[in-house]
Amino acid sequence: MDFTGYKMNYDEMKNKLEQMLSIKRYLHSLRVADEAVAIAKHYGIDEQKAYLAGLLHDCAKNINTMQSINILEKNGVSLTECEKMSSGLLHAPLGAIIAAKEFLVDDSEVLNAISCHTTGKANMSELDKVIYLADLIEPGRNYVEIDSLREAVYDNLNNGMFAGLDYSIKYVLLKKSVLHPNTVEAWNYIRINNEEDLNIERRC
Ligand SMILES: [Fe+2]
Ligand SMILES: [Fe+2]
Repeated sequence: MDFTGYKMNYDEMKNKLEQMLSIKRYLHSLRVADEAVAIAKHYGIDEQKAYLAGLLHDCAKNINTMQSINILEKNGVSLTECEKMSSGLLHAPLGAIIAAKEFLVDDSEVLNAISCHTTGKANMSELDKVIYLADLIEPGRNYVEIDSLREAVYDNLNNGMFAGLDYSIKYVLLKKSVLHPNTVEAWNYIRINNEEDLNIERRC
């Protein structure tokens, strides 16, 4: 991916990102960008936007919780108790702010995809789904369900999203962690509005 119509080119973005993240997180970001392009290509979705959102999705990952809350509140994002106690969720909305301010991204579709990549939300765009799923199935991920999830993602984007949410929700519950309302809304939205795409085993 070498073209960018954005204000910084990819090399500048990568250099900056490499300085902001651990090497492990930086390499994950490169893999998510590549996986996002592969999914986008498969479904005829904008590959440039997929690459950019994938590359920058975790750009705020190394910012500590107090600083994250400060920056978010200064930028007019009011946080719920659920968000304040789940520090792992803050880097997504914060990432959209950092991508805009530090990486000069002014594409709202890209910023939205970064912003909802941990929780999902109701009525996600195709790009939102691509980034959410690329983050879950990039080649560095290793968990029992990965092969079936990967298969679902490349079979049908909505069914892949449903399977991705299924995995994430079970993971959150297994950890007895806080389940963000946006994740529940993402699940319900897709279950209600995209039923024809879903591979649901019916039980009476
Ligand atoms: Fe993330
Ligand atoms: Fe990630």
